[in-house]
Amino acid sequence: MTLPAPTSEALAFSAALSDHLVREIDAGGGWIGFDRFMDLALYAPAKGYYSGGAHKFGAAGDFVTAPELSPVFAQTLAAQVRQILALSAPQIIEVGAGSGQLAADLLRELELRGGLPESYAILELSGELQARQRQVIAAQVPHLLSRVSWLERLPERFAGLVLANEVLDAMPVHLVVWNETGVAERGVAVTHGQFAWVDRPASGRLRERALALAAECAMPPGYLSEVSLAAGAWVAEWAARLGCGALLLIDYGFPRREYYHPQRSAGTLMCHYRHHAHGEPFYLPGLQDITAHVDFTAIVESACSAGLDLLGYGTQSSFLLDCGLAAVLARTPSSDARRYLPLASAANKLVSPAEMGELFKVMALGKGIAEPLLGFASGDRSRTL
Ligand SMILES: C[S@@+](CC[C@H](N)C(=O)[O-])C[C@H]1O[C@@H](n2cnc3c(N)ncnc32)[C@H](O)[C@@H]1O
Repeated sequence: MTLPAPTSEALAFSAALSDHLVREIDAGGGWIGFDRFMDLALYAPAKGYYSGGAHKFGAAGDFVTAPELSPVFAQTLAAQVRQILALSAPQIIEVGAGSGQLAADLLRELELRGGLPESYAILELSGELQARQRQVIAAQVPHLLSRVSWLERLPERFAGLVLANEVLDAMPVHLVVWNETGVAERGVAVTHGQFAWVDRPASGRLRERALALAAECAMPPGYLSEVSLAAGAWVAEWAARLGCGALLLIDYGFPRREYYHPQRSAGTLMCHYRHHAHGEPFYLPGLQDITAHVDFTAIVESACSAGLDLLGYGTQSSFLLDCGLAAVLARTPSSDARRYLPLASAANKLVSPAEMGELFKVMALGKGIAEPLLGFASGDRSRTL
């Protein structure tokens, strides 16, 4: 694997995180689960990928998310946001707001549409990103900054919209190997000064979940994949706090049968470093993103057993088209090629089946919302979950 060389400063940053990981492994008796490794690699205070200074988003970073690609994403999403706010309460919480670009674009568009929320709160684990979000919002929509606040934790009660784009994929996952003799948890040890994979018998809730998955999906022996206990627990936490309102979750992933398809025998774990995607999570910890696709069936099961209703599930493509992507594009005359062509190209990326259109899904979960959501008017695939 040949990847762009990091600077000496970046290497020192990664070395500090590696030392931290080694100490955690020692403290864990020589082994930690991969979920702990991923959690520290991404979120160890001041040292992790998201909590440290890595650039992360956009052309100069490691990957491009939909809000970073073009304002067309937020401008289109605004239609669904407005409907949910009108059906619940005029408040938004955005979780994991990245660079703050979605917040800035969405606020600007909601203002244009006469549907500004009374408050826009951001729940972000990374202090470094909180500072960046404030800067982006202050620079792009300064007159709306007073509506924006940052939360330290989930609120006790909330009514309105909870929005999370590419957040579930950034939550720590366990690695599981299904063998003929049982289920093993794949974790991390240190061998000859290097991180190394070591399997142990799975236990507790992870074992229960892995056995239930085996009964449903019949994985062949040696099958490796991820199990996210954190994402389901997080959704269930919202269920306990949400009054009237909805969670809108946008991420890449599949329903369970596709996620644990016999042919997907090496899982979906993926690392992103300077626009190169690869499968080596031990490479330069702290300098690269680590993600796993989302098992949307697991999300809906956790949500519904905690009291939320499934309001809609579909591809990003059908969701954006149902939300009026074509009308948003049509606001820029095609004769103005310099402005129109980049927007059209971004729109194509967002909906093309070969790009983000099919792999990315949108799921709405909620309470007290009886009206059909417009983003799922023609493409609801809830039955596939
Ligand atoms: C892949 S980035 C996506 C950023 C942004 N939403 C976007 O689309 O550009 C993942 C984000 O989720 C945040 N995050 C992950 N888990 C979180 C959690 N449990 N609570 C709040 N933020 C979280 C990370 O700090 C990061 O900002």
